[in-house]
Amino acid sequence: MIICRRVNKEFRLNRRPIRVLDDVSLQVAAGESVALIGPSGCGKSTLLGLIAGFFLADGGEVKVEGRVSLMMQQDMLLPHRSVLDNACLPVEVRDKKRLPAARAEAASLLPLFGLDGFGESYPDQLSGGMRQRAALLRTVMDGGDFWLLDEPFGKLDALTKEELQEWLFGIKSRFKPGVLLVTHDINEALVLADRIYVMSERPGRIKAELMVERGQREQQQAEIRRLLLRGK
Ligand SMILES: Nc1ncnc2c1ncn2[C@@H]1O[C@H](COP(=O)(O)OP(=O)(O)OP(=O)(O)O)[C@@H](O)[C@H]1O
Ligand SMILES: [Mg+2]
Repeated sequence: MIICRRVNKEFRLNRRPIRVLDDVSLQVAAGESVALIGPSGCGKSTLLGLIAGFFLADGGEVKVEGRVSLMMQQDMLLPHRSVLDNACLPVEVRDKKRLPAARAEAASLLPLFGLDGFGESYPDQLSGGMRQRAALLRTVMDGGDFWLLDEPFGKLDALTKEELQEWLFGIKSRFKPGVLLVTHDINEALVLADRIYVMSERPGRIKAELMVERGQREQQQAEIRRLLLRGK
């Protein structure tokens, strides 16, 4: 379970504090898929960073039961490592003995990620979308109980995106991770999530929480769009 209770976060900008998160409370249960949607700069990536333990909240509580695998917004691939070596890095760091098996598994997943034949390529030999898929592969290989995905499909064209969304939907039934997905794409949130949190502009607050009702896609799309447009 991931629990954020009344979380506050400030950063300093030119020595002046700016409030980024304001009393944010949210939860992700084991195996549940939750989307976080909100305007640019409202603190979504900051929230994932807090959950991953990169920095501490100024107030409130962040509790994580289980291990999280974070896919950051920037792909963070190491330039001197091949796709497969990047994908298996988390396994290598945790347990070197598992590396050969992990490499074989990652290699078998390459076609699914549209990276067939690129396992030995280096990040600067890949397109932006391919890099993003390599970063997603690394997150899957890391195998945490919760996947924190920061706009994992942001750089993909509609077709690849739809395929990968479908695939993510499928793979969730195999690995059963809890997923916290940051996205700007209302449709993506409605396709992939069981529940959606809509955030306000900075300082980010939770404006609304919606259970996704399959079969009410259009009404919910309109509702989220309204929430996002309605300023603070
Ligand atoms: N390390 C930092 N130091 C100072 N300010 C920061 C830091 N990280 C983020 N911020 C500020 O916090 C705010 C929220 O940033 P964050 O990256 O969480 O937004 P976001 O919701 O993920 O936006 P986007 O949708 O554009 O990715 C921004 O105003 C940003 O300038
Ligand atoms: Mg962000």
